[in-house]
Amino acid sequence: MALLEVENLEISIVTGGRWGRLLPVVRGVSFSVEAGRTLGIVGESGCGKSLTALAIMGLLDGPVVRITGGAVRFDGQDLRALDPGDRRAIMGNRMAMIFQEPMTSLNPVYRVGDQIAEALRQHRRMSARQARDRATELLDLVRIPDPARRVDSFPHQMSGGQRQRVMIAMALACDPGLLISDEPTTALDVTVQKGILDLMRDLQGRTGAAIILISHDLGVIAETCDTVAVMYCGRIIEDTDTPRLFAHMSHPYTRGLLASIPAVDRDTEWLEAIPGRVPPVGAALPGCAFHPRCAFAKGPCRDSTPGPTAIAPGHVVRCHFPQEGGA
Ligand SMILES: Nc1ncnc2c1ncn2[C@@H]1O[C@H](COP(=O)(O)OP(=O)(O)O)[C@@H](O)[C@H]1O
Ligand code: SF4
Ligand SMILES: [Mg+2]
Repeated sequence: MALLEVENLEISIVTGGRWGRLLPVVRGVSFSVEAGRTLGIVGESGCGKSLTALAIMGLLDGPVVRITGGAVRFDGQDLRALDPGDRRAIMGNRMAMIFQEPMTSLNPVYRVGDQIAEALRQHRRMSARQARDRATELLDLVRIPDPARRVDSFPHQMSGGQRQRVMIAMALACDPGLLISDEPTTALDVTVQKGILDLMRDLQGRTGAAIILISHDLGVIAETCDTVAVMYCGRIIEDTDTPRLFAHMSHPYTRGLLASIPAVDRDTEWLEAIPGRVPPVGAALPGCAFHPRCAFAKGPCRDSTPGPTAIAPGHVVRCHFPQEGGA
């Protein structure tokens, strides 16, 4: 049994007040991740990656964005069916997420060691002394130099790469079975990026955690992940293991993604968007959502939405005319 199973997840945005319409932004998303394995979720900004992650973490309880269908099962338990206390216990203890923007996730007025210790005291019932020792150990584990001193630093006294490492240390404080990392590396330079990815791999080797790595960069995903789910407009449009994806990439969008290298990254919108912004989500397109941009679009693409089709065992594509051949 997979550690995490997401089945037919639907997330909608509520528009126009209390009696407003529900606009689905994540539609029928299904995937699973086993312990010790890494799933990559890749797609352009706005396709629903962060909302999917937040839904798994139980962080979509707001009035504007809601889970409107499907199931999230962790270790066989349907998280949406659990009462809030049990859900919090699983989510705080056994799942952790590294957010896109480390500066906004760390509290600027507390020392980093205290922030890590707080998580430990909450979920592990450690004494203050134990929690501080463990926080120092975790900083060492994520290779912050001189951890005994840095445990007393404030976030602004650290570099962007170090803050990201502190975030990872916090995420790892409770030895989570599932670690979700939402584009942690985009704001950082390439060597720092590589260090963090290596670190996550090390930790996985040590603890056997399942990892979901979210990125708009297919290159990062290819290097790090066992399987890949490609998202477009709220749907997974291609899904298979990494070697197969590169040998038999079939969806025109996936091929486009491989060819395009994003110039500037501004993918922090989920944090900024929450209070009262009009959702930039248009009316649903009929047919394949990719058809206005697709070089292979033909008649049926405009009228009917392609369903998921297994073009080989373990390789699912949503396209009326999947392309042949490798990347
Ligand atoms: N709090 C929110 N309020 C309104 N719209 C939102 C909110 N969060 C996300 N959205 C919209 O939902 C869609 C999916 O967002 P997101 O999951 O953040 O995409 P990604 O992480 O792939 O860039 C986008 O169109 C985004 O603008
Ligand atoms: S269904 Fe048609 S428009 Fe959509 S990706 Fe496939 S070929 Fe292109
Ligand atoms: Mg995002």
